[in-house]
Amino acid sequence: MGACQGLAYDRQMAETRNHKLRAWVDEVAALTQPVQVEWCDGSPEEYERLCRLLVGRGTFTKLSDARRPSSYLARSDPADVARVEDRTFVCPRDPKDAGPTNNWVDPDAMRSSLTELFRGSMRGRTMYVVPFSMGPLGSPIAHLGVELTDSPYVAVNMRIMARMGTGALEAIGDNGEFVQCLHSVGAPLEAGQQDVAWPCNPAQVYVTHFPDTREIWSFGSGYGGNALLGKKCFALRIASVIGRDEGWLAEHMLILKLTAPSGKVRYVTGAFPSACGKTNLAMLVASMPDWKIETIGDDICWMKIGDDGRLRAINPEAGFFGVAPGTSMITNPNAVLTLSANCIFTNTALTEGGDVWWEGLTTEPPKHCTDWRGNEWTPESPTPAAHPNSRFTAPAAQDPAIAPEWEDPAGVPISAILLGGRRGSVVPLVYEAFDWAHGVFLGSIMASETTAAATGAVGKLRRDPFAMVPFCGYNMADYWGHWLSFRDRMDEENMPRVFYVNWFRKGVDGRFLWPGFGENSRVLEWIFERCDGTAEAVQTPIGYLPADGAIDIDGLEISEDDMRELLHVDREAWRAEVSSIAEFFAEFEDRLPTALTDQLEGLKSRLG
Ligand code: GTP
Ligand code: SPV
Ligand code: MN
Repeated sequence: MGACQGLAYDRQMAETRNHKLRAWVDEVAALTQPVQVEWCDGSPEEYERLCRLLVGRGTFTKLSDARRPSSYLARSDPADVARVEDRTFVCPRDPKDAGPTNNWVDPDAMRSSLTELFRGSMRGRTMYVVPFSMGPLGSPIAHLGVELTDSPYVAVNMRIMARMGTGALEAIGDNGEFVQCLHSVGAPLEAGQQDVAWPCNPAQVYVTHFPDTREIWSFGSGYGGNALLGKKCFALRIASVIGRDEGWLAEHMLILKLTAPSGKVRYVTGAFPSACGKTNLAMLVASMPDWKIETIGDDICWMKIGDDGRLRAINPEAGFFGVAPGTSMITNPNAVLTLSANCIFTNTALTEGGDVWWEGLTTEPPKHCTDWRGNEWTPESPTPAAHPNSRFTAPAAQDPAIAPEWEDPAGVPISAILLGGRRGSVVPLVYEAFDWAHGVFLGSIMASETTAAATGAVGKLRRDPFAMVPFCGYNMADYWGHWLSFRDRMDEENMPRVFYVNWFRKGVDGRFLWPGFGENSRVLEWIFERCDGTAEAVQTPIGYLPADGAIDIDGLEISEDDMRELLHVDREAWRAEVSSIAEFFAEFEDRLPTALTDQLEGLKSRLG
C-alpha cells in the first residue's frame, strides 16, 4: 500500500505493477498529502460521477437546455482565465539550452522551491492519477503520460482531450516509459475549511518543465494549457525536445485535408499563434463549389518522416479546446455542430434557458443572461458576457468534418505548411517561400498581435516564430536549425511547400480587408494549385505572390482596391521589418543558424 496512511487505493492500483509509476504516485502522495488517491479508468461512469461531483461543488452548472445534452459550464476564478507565459519555465541544466524566448531557472533550485510549494498542497483533496496517451492508443508514434492532479475538472477535461484511462495504463505496462506530469491547484483545504467553486492560487503560479528528465510540474492554476498537461506542456514543450533528439517535429499546428473538385487530396498544416484561426481553418466549410475541407487536428501536430520519405503528420489529441467567442453557424458551422452534446464550456455566458452563449454566436445577443463571472448581463453591459478566452472542450470525433483517417497511426503526408498570424499591416494575404530554407526563415520571422489566450496585453505585435514562442521546450535558434535539417533528411520532391498567410490585414479605416473564414478556401485553392504547379505567381522580394487574378474571387464582394492592398508588398514597411528582424535575431547570439543570417541578407538586398 501507499505511503499515505489509510488511503483507499482501488483495483487499478493493485493491477499496476509498474514500479516507477507506483513509486512516483507514493512519493507525490507523501509530499502533497491528499486525503485519497483515485486512479482514473476513463470510463463513461467515472466521467459522469466526476461531473456530478463538480456540479455538487459549484464548479459545474449542468446545461438544462435539452438541445445541449450532457454538457456543462464551468466558471473559473477571474484571476485564472488563460495561460500565464511569464510564469512558464523551461529548466534544462544550461540556460543557453532554454534560450532567450523561455524563462529559465536552475533546475535544482526550481525543484527545491517547487517541492516546498507542493508540500501539503493537496491536503483536503483527492489526488487523481490520470494515465493518458498522446496519439492513438498503442500506436508506435504515440507517447504516454500520467498526470497527477488534485483537480477533478482537469481529470474530466483530460478524458476528452486525450486517450485517458485503463487503455493508457495498459500501454504503459509494467516497464513502460511515461512523462511525469504533476499538477496542483495549490489550494489545500484545512480541516473544516469550505472549498470554493474554482480553487487556484494565482499569486504562486508555476508551469515548469524539466526537459532533461522529461517532467512537468504545474502549480497554482486550473485553466487550460496551465493545467491540462498533456496539451501544451507535454505535446509541445516536452515533445519538441524529444523531437529534436529523435529527428521529428512537435508543432503548434492545425492539420487539414483538402479535396479538389477533381477528387485529388492534399494535406496541409498551419502554424498560427494562439487564437489566430487554427480551429477555424481546420473545420472550414469551403465557399468554393466542390472543394472540401476535413479536419485532422486543430492545435497540435507531430510530424515525422515516414517510410515513404514524406513528412507525415498526426494529431496527438482526441479533442478540441477551442476559443468560443466568434464561433457561429456563419463563421464555423462545423464547430457549432461539434458542440451539440458532451461538451464542457469554460467561462462562457449562461442563457436564461440554460444554454451557453458568447459574443458572435448569434447576431442578436440574448436580452438577458448570466456573464462568465456569474453576474447579470444585458447587451447594455459594459463588459463582454463571455470571457474573450472562454473555451469549449469537445470530443474530436463529434466534428462532422472529421476526416476518416484522423486517427491513422501512419499519419497523413503533408504537401504544404502554412504560417500565419494577425498582422493589421505589412504582410500580404498570401505568399510562398522560394524554397525550404526560405520557408524556415519565414517561420522564424513570424510576428503576430497578441490575443487573450495568454494573460497580458492584447493586440501587441510580437515575434512568434512558428507560433512556438510560448511552446518551444528548447533554444528557439536550435529549433530553427532542427527545421533547416529536414532539407538534408528528405528528397527535394517530398519537401512540403511553405506559405505565409494573413487573414487579418486591415484597411486605413480599421476593418479587415479579407472576409476570412469560409472564403479562406480561395487561398487554399491557390496553394493547392501551386503544389500542383498550375497556379500563377509573381516573384517579389519577399516571395512568390499570386499573379493578378490567380486567386479566384468570383462571387466575392471585394473591391479591386482592397484586393490590391491585400496583395501589396510595401517595400518601405518591409525595410523596417528587416531592421526589426535583425534586432530579434541578435538575441540568439552564436546559436543563430548562419542560413538565417544569409536569408535576412538576401531579403535586404532584394528590397534594395
Ligand atoms: P488556439 O486554440 O488559442 O491555439 O487558437 P486557434 O488558432 O485555434 O484560433 P481560432 O480558430 O479559435 O480563432 C480565434 C479567433 O479568431 C476566433 O474568435 C475566430 O472567430 C477568429 N478567426 C478565425 N479565423 C478568422 C478569419 O479568417 N478571419 C477573421 N477575421 N477572424 C478569424
Ligand atoms: C493556446 O493558447 O494556444 C491554446 C489554449 O490552444 S491553451 O490550451 O489554454 O493553451
Ligand atoms: Mn493553441
